[in-house]
Amino acid sequence: MNWEAFLAPYVQVVEELKVKLKGMRAQYEFESRHSPIEFITGRVKPVPSILEKAHRKNTPLDQIEGEIQDIAGVRVVCQFVDDIRTVIDMLRNRKDFSIIEEKDYITRQKDSGYRSYHVIIKYPVETVHGEKKVLAEIQIRTLAMNFWATNEHSLNYKYDGQIPSNIKSRLKRAAEAAFKLDEEMSLIKDEVQEAQRIFHKNKSTH
Ligand code: GTP
Ligand code: MG
Repeated sequence: MNWEAFLAPYVQVVEELKVKLKGMRAQYEFESRHSPIEFITGRVKPVPSILEKAHRKNTPLDQIEGEIQDIAGVRVVCQFVDDIRTVIDMLRNRKDFSIIEEKDYITRQKDSGYRSYHVIIKYPVETVHGEKKVLAEIQIRTLAMNFWATNEHSLNYKYDGQIPSNIKSRLKRAAEAAFKLDEEMSLIKDEVQEAQRIFHKNKSTH
């Protein structure tokens, strides 16, 4: 399998999505409005992870294109829980790709404690052989959800997916604490946003 050639459209999609979503963040800044997007990251799944997932899901190599949805992955991190809704609405209104599935792990968190909203899209990318539609996964989460997921991911890596049960229960408590933090911050959201608007104005006039 020629992985470089296979992954090229995915690299393109991740780069395009990052540019487009960063553009939306910038527009909010120009208009001195609170940006629902704090930052964006993106990655193309490394080949060993693609192979591991294909093996785990019993997907033959010639079907990974249609079966593995997160070869291209982009993450949108927000300050507040409400911002997630705004981002989802923005994605739904776009005409440059179509949404094929939404997974709400916020109202229904995973057993691990994981929270995030996933939007699976089909994105048309131009290749030298013409247009190709590729799947991509957009994960939308708050800073607190991201903090938790990043740490849990590191532990999963360290323990090869077999996190000891005492650490697992600590992680669940940490997930509840992160949820509580998001709730508390939501209550003072207007205050925080006003402060940030004033700060931003001062920054641009000096
Ligand atoms: P994966 O094989 O884990 O990719 O699952 P999936 O393709 O069946 O889809 P799912 O929606 O469960 O997960 C997609 C992605 O969400 C994963 O690749 C992770 O980036 C993230 N994710 C899902 N569950 C967890 C979790 O418990 N902890 C962390 N840190 N991330 C998770
Ligand atoms: Mg995945």
